[in-house]
Amino acid sequence: MKILSLTTAVAAVILGTASVASAELSKIVRMDPRTQMFIDTEGRTRFFHGTNMVMKSFPWHHDVNNFVPSWSIVDKDIETLKSLNINSVRLGVHWAGVEPVRGQYNQTYLDITQGIIKKLQDNGIYTLVDQHQDVWAAQLCGHGAPLWFVKSDWVVPGHRFPYPQKAPFSVDANGVPASADCNSIDWATSYLDYAVGNAFGRLYNNYDGLGDAWAAYWKTVATNYRQLQGVMGYDLMN
Ligand SMILES: *[C@@H]1O[C@H](CO)[C@@H](O)[C@H](O)[C@H]1NC(C)=O
Repeated sequence: MKILSLTTAVAAVILGTASVASAELSKIVRMDPRTQMFIDTEGRTRFFHGTNMVMKSFPWHHDVNNFVPSWSIVDKDIETLKSLNINSVRLGVHWAGVEPVRGQYNQTYLDITQGIIKKLQDNGIYTLVDQHQDVWAAQLCGHGAPLWFVKSDWVVPGHRFPYPQKAPFSVDANGVPASADCNSIDWATSYLDYAVGNAFGRLYNNYDGLGDAWAAYWKTVATNYRQLQGVMGYDLMN
């Protein structure tokens, strides 16, 4: 699995802007379809110098209490971001974190991620809220969707993950393969696997209301964050 860290992955470096004082953080209101640039309330085209902030395993957010190099978002990290003139962050807000049990949203998770966005915004840094996923779910050696999403009986035994890349892996009670098996394959090639295509198809075809569940997760996230000036946009599925 590909792990991107805060310090090593620069997501969208376009141009550094003069540092924007927090009081001046203006809301991003639209994209200009002609230039494909972000426009703020003042009608200004905004430039971003950004980085990635995605925690790809439980608890699906960076540590907000203790400094952990690359994996926290405390004052020391904010100082680092500011010293690099970073004014935007792509923040992973995983479906697995928001809705660990089907139909039950984790308000603690939503509050912690909201606190992160607020902290960034107070320091002049915008947030692109990202439904992060790599190969969709843990059953497919990836992450993003909650465990309840993918079912092993969706495909016949001979076609289970990662067929045809390799013969199907043995799995635990949740249908999740061992990490040693996951590390033996190329994660990006897994997008061509039978079970992965099947899982995406179930979402897109709204099988068992899964597409509706995905939309409801986004509605919950957007409702929780709607007062935040610092949200520059929502990346519905990366
Ligand atoms: C909800 O989120 C909090 C904060 O990350 C976490 O400690 C807790 O275990 C989560 N609950 C579930 C059911 O995943």
